[in-house]
Amino acid sequence: MSLKIGILHEAALTEGKEQRVAMTPDALARLEKKLPALTVYVQAGAGVAAGFTDAAYEVAGATVVPDFAKEKMDILLRVSTPSAKEKLPLKDDGLLVCLTAGQDSWGTLAKQAHHVLALEKLPRTSRAQALDVLSSQANLGGYAAVLGGVSYLPRLMPVLMTAAGSSKPANVLVLGVGVAGLQAIATAKRLGAQVKAFDVRPEVSEQIKSLGAKPVIFDDPNVATEGKGGYAGSLDEAGQAHLQSLLAPFVAESDLVISTAQVPGKPAPVLMDEQTVASMKAGSVVVDMACGGYNKQHGIKGGNCPASRADEVVSVGHGVTVVGETNWVSRVAGDASRFWAQNMVNLLSLLVVDNALSFEDELIAAMAVVKAGKVAA
Ligand code: NAI
Repeated sequence: MSLKIGILHEAALTEGKEQRVAMTPDALARLEKKLPALTVYVQAGAGVAAGFTDAAYEVAGATVVPDFAKEKMDILLRVSTPSAKEKLPLKDDGLLVCLTAGQDSWGTLAKQAHHVLALEKLPRTSRAQALDVLSSQANLGGYAAVLGGVSYLPRLMPVLMTAAGSSKPANVLVLGVGVAGLQAIATAKRLGAQVKAFDVRPEVSEQIKSLGAKPVIFDDPNVATEGKGGYAGSLDEAGQAHLQSLLAPFVAESDLVISTAQVPGKPAPVLMDEQTVASMKAGSVVVDMACGGYNKQHGIKGGNCPASRADEVVSVGHGVTVVGETNWVSRVAGDASRFWAQNMVNLLSLLVVDNALSFEDELIAAMAVVKAGKVAA
């Protein structure tokens, strides 16, 4: 018997907050070639918000199911984390694959699914990259956050010469130069802005320069960290306060700040206090990408900027806009879903061995937070 894979209509489940879908017709065709024994069931309308019709899924070989309530799947692939109330359409020994809301949520998930793979637990190694939804989505998030931030700016980004005069380029500051930050730099540069960027990992300076931006460098070992596996370490409290004071003039001179600084499993570091944000020019914009994730899960208000509020747009000082959108990626749901789906094809290639689930591969094992109904130690 072939394994049944289920794809849900997440826009319907989340009242439109999640427009992405975990499998796309093009990825489905590639999955068919790699694992022909799998059968894929797609809830009717699942891909519409991201631009994929039911007919396209059917052409790619999926079975479109109008009502998923009666279905029982072996594997459920989804983008959003299920709410505690949801009854998942899984068999008794079924597997849920999703991003989870961290360790505190695994006990609840263990009641909803026999096995759970938490996608955020994937190690950050070269081999894991093909499966890494955090990276594929953060990249698009950095792009969408710049476009979103620009939409609140009352000014142009590039130099524009007109008969009525010319504009100056906007000053953009990117804080945190990981996956989202690098794409934010590249996007702001493409739009014609002057871009500066800072990260506590000094080694990213060369990457910042290669994108045509200017690295902000403080010749001060107290505001640099050496992390592990591509992640930064945390600064201590004094280092953090010192960093805020060093960054304050750079924030104040910027028209747009995109902040993405994060250390996994920790509250987002505060890089600009409310006073600094209030000192920015009227009309300036801060996009705090770090106010979701860990901070939202743990009820911490704000992210890199304490003034930001998850999923809200607030005004600070004399007309500085602080944007706390936590799901920029959903705004580019079509491409985001394509990348997500390819990550899932690569994941399934490791997970399904001889038409059965196998947790042997080290990458799969690292993500298995619930096994046989029990939260893994
Ligand atoms: P990442 O781990 O690749 O990058 C984070 C960067 O922050 C690293 O380069 C790290 O060195 C740097 N950093 C850590 N502490 C710092 C400090 N004190 N000062 C300056 N830099 C510091 O993470 P990624 O994937 O780029 O995501 C970044 C953040 O954006 C995360 O919080 C993630 O949840 C969030 N995100 C938000 C989205 C949204 O829609 N709001 C979409 C995608 C990501």
